[in-house]
Amino acid sequence: MVSYKDLGLVNTREMFEKAMAGHYAIPAFNFNNMEQLQAIIQACVESASPVILQVSSGARKYANQTLLRYMAEGAVAYAKELGRNIPICLHLDHGDTFELCKSCIDMGFSSVMIDGSHLPYDENVALTRKVVEYAHQFDVTVEGELGVLAGIEDEVSAEHHTYTEPDQVIDFVTKTGVDSLAISIGTSHGANKFRPEQCTRNAEGVLVPPPLRFDILEEVEKRLPGFPIVLHGSSSVPQKYVEIINKYGGAVKDAIGIPEDQLRRAAKSAVCKINIDSDGRLAMTAAVREVLATKPAEFDPRKYLGPARDWLKELYKHKCECVLGSAGKA
Ligand code: G3H
Ligand code: 13P
Ligand code: ZN
Repeated sequence: MVSYKDLGLVNTREMFEKAMAGHYAIPAFNFNNMEQLQAIIQACVESASPVILQVSSGARKYANQTLLRYMAEGAVAYAKELGRNIPICLHLDHGDTFELCKSCIDMGFSSVMIDGSHLPYDENVALTRKVVEYAHQFDVTVEGELGVLAGIEDEVSAEHHTYTEPDQVIDFVTKTGVDSLAISIGTSHGANKFRPEQCTRNAEGVLVPPPLRFDILEEVEKRLPGFPIVLHGSSSVPQKYVEIINKYGGAVKDAIGIPEDQLRRAAKSAVCKINIDSDGRLAMTAAVREVLATKPAEFDPRKYLGPARDWLKELYKHKCECVLGSAGKA
């Protein structure tokens, strides 16, 4: 049993209190490897942003749970070495069982998500409550979810989304004791959040997806004043990366994300945590494809993973400074 407090990590409680009061959102970036983690820490140190490092169960399988835990511990030391002791939370993304959440808590995670959103309501409540009871003994914070996002959530996949029902949120939060709540208001996971036919074209000919359901968010806020809300599936899918990927042999089709102005608006509300994974995947893939296509003789992984890391860092800084408003809040 390792306590996150001994690793220099923090849970989300104070982060969310400050984010709520300051009308910004904490970035929650997924990582699976060293270059992604370096880019996240460099970006958040340079922009003085608190950060949530997210590990999915897929990431745990890919990179090994023990290595990931030591990497997060290393990230705390790395941030200090870069000159700023930013608040860093290590969070399980989309935990699907009590055992997985317990294992992460026992290994030093400071926050876990238990995603029972696909279960019948009473089962979601019971599972979430069980995780909260265990986690709170160790001052680990817990995120629950109500409403289903379309797309892949690790092992949990859903074809159609179901918006969060505002009339359920008080009962859910009271019965489970969660510290934050992920809701479904029109975001979804992955790079294809909307079909082109769902979008309209603006004056520049750019596809504009339907707006998020801020009316549902407002209803949730009315029922849970001051309670931290989480937005999953919040990548914006920058078209510059999609174009580079496709220019250099890729086939990323009809990729449409959440416009940044929608996320800026959400970050100013009770939304305290915004999850971004796909944009990082696109930036990294675009950089690697460009290097390999333009320098075909290159075979040193540092020569393509290095630029990928630089592109990622630029992306994450942009998120903190121009989208989430978390820059300068560390
Ligand atoms: O919400 C899902 C995250 O983007 C993690 O994706 O399960 O492929 O690691 P993953
Ligand atoms: P994106 O696929 O939009 O990046 O969402 C990531 C996410 O919600 C991780 O939990
Ligand atoms: Zn998610």
